[in-house]
Order: sequence, then structure tokens, then C-alpha cells
Amino acid sequence: MKFLLTLIVVAVIVAVVRKLVRHKNLAPLLPRRYNFGKRRDTLRETLRLLDERGAKALLETGVARMGLEKSKGDGASTIVFGLWAKQNDAHLYAVDIDPAATERAGQAVVMMDLSDSVTLVTSDSVAYLDEFTDMVDFLYLDSYDYHKTDTAIQTASQDHHLNEIKAIEGCLHEDTVILIDDCDLPNGGKGKLVIERLTANGWKVHMSEYQVILVKGE
Ligand SMILES: C[S@@+](CC[C@H](N)C(=O)[O-])C[C@H]1O[C@@H](n2cnc3c(N)ncnc32)[C@H](O)[C@@H]1O
Repeated sequence: MKFLLTLIVVAVIVAVVRKLVRHKNLAPLLPRRYNFGKRRDTLRETLRLLDERGAKALLETGVARMGLEKSKGDGASTIVFGLWAKQNDAHLYAVDIDPAATERAGQAVVMMDLSDSVTLVTSDSVAYLDEFTDMVDFLYLDSYDYHKTDTAIQTASQDHHLNEIKAIEGCLHEDTVILIDDCDLPNGGKGKLVIERLTANGWKVHMSEYQVILVKGE
């Protein structure tokens, strides 16, 4: 009986420790209860690079359509980068084709008091990036949803992200930081063609996990 109780206590302790280790937060930017899971380390490194390079113009495709609710599943990017922008006198431009997504992200932006630091636009991202004329210090690509098994969707998503980079590359510079989501997925994920193009043009993979960070000058 005593042995069984000890086993149960050990199992509970192991489960709690495992849960704590897997809970990856972005404190102090956001409270510890928000878990960023597989994106946490690349997000932290991205924010460090933005600090180091004094980024001012941030641009993302694919907004946080669930606000902060899906920090682990989706990344809550608009809030993460919007908060960083607010704290660093920078500005985030965020585009999404789905009005429901920009609406929901907009509610979270208001709730977090980020309205002065975030501009939300409802548009196809390629069309929006094509019209963008300011220089971009940080670019986050996370629009057209990828699929783990449907190869037609995989190709369409990779083509779309490639078209995004083609549309915006004239606004990138030596210190721009690029982050691409959903890369560690079957057949190369969202970033496959973008990374091929960028690395052929002098960009370097700075960090490669579920997300990939690219920079030019280290
Ligand atoms: C994975 S979600 C973005 C998640 C967000 N970055 C986050 O961290 O929570 C992908 C988004 O891309 C948007 N999207 C899909 N196709 C698009 C397009 N052609 N132009 C702009 N946005 C698009 C979808 O509406 C969706 O909201």
C-alpha cells in the first residue's frame, strides 16, 4: 500500500513538472499564463533581434484571429508584436483577407490598449504588400493556411507566401528580420519556397524550429 502511494505521488510530481516545462511563456511581455509552446523560443529570439536592431516598422500577414486565446495553437502574433511595438515606439501593420479575423483581432487590440500601435487591414496580403511603400524592419509571414496532408493546399500556401515575399522584397533592407510560421511541417511548410528564394539572394537562416528566422547581416 505504502509503495503504491509513493508511486502515485511520484507520478503526480512528474506530470506537474512535465506540464511546467512544456508551458512556454513570453513573460514579462505577457503574463506567464499564456503558453506559446513550439513558437516561444523563436518568438523570444525575434523580439531580441528587434530590440537589438531598433525595429520601427513591423508588418505581418495573417492576424491573430482568436486574439490571445490561441497563443499556443496560432501564436497570437498581432498581440505579441503589437505589444512590442507599443513598448518600443514602433508600429505594426497587420493584414488578413478575412473580415471576421481582422474584426476579432481588432477587439483584442482594443482590449490590450494597442490601437495607437497597430493598423489592421482587411485585404489579400499580396495585394496589400504590393502597395506597401515604407521600408520594413520586421516581416512576419503567416497567412494562407497550410495542410499537413493535402498537397494541393500545401502548394497553394507555399506559392502564396512566395508571392508575398516577391511583393514586399523591395521594401526589405540589410537589418530587416523575417519570421515565417508553420515551417516544420510535411513538404516544407509555408516557408519552403520563400526560404529557397531568400537564401539564394543572400539571406541567412538565423534560427530554424517550427518557425524560421532569416536575416541578412548578423
Ligand atoms: C494561421 S492564421 C494567422 C495566425 C496569426 N498569425 C496568429 O498568430 O494568431 C492564417 C490567417 O491567414 C489569413 N489568410 C488566408 N489567406 C490570406 C490571404 N490571401 N491574404 C491575407 N490573409 C490570408 C486567414 O484568414 C487567417 O486568418
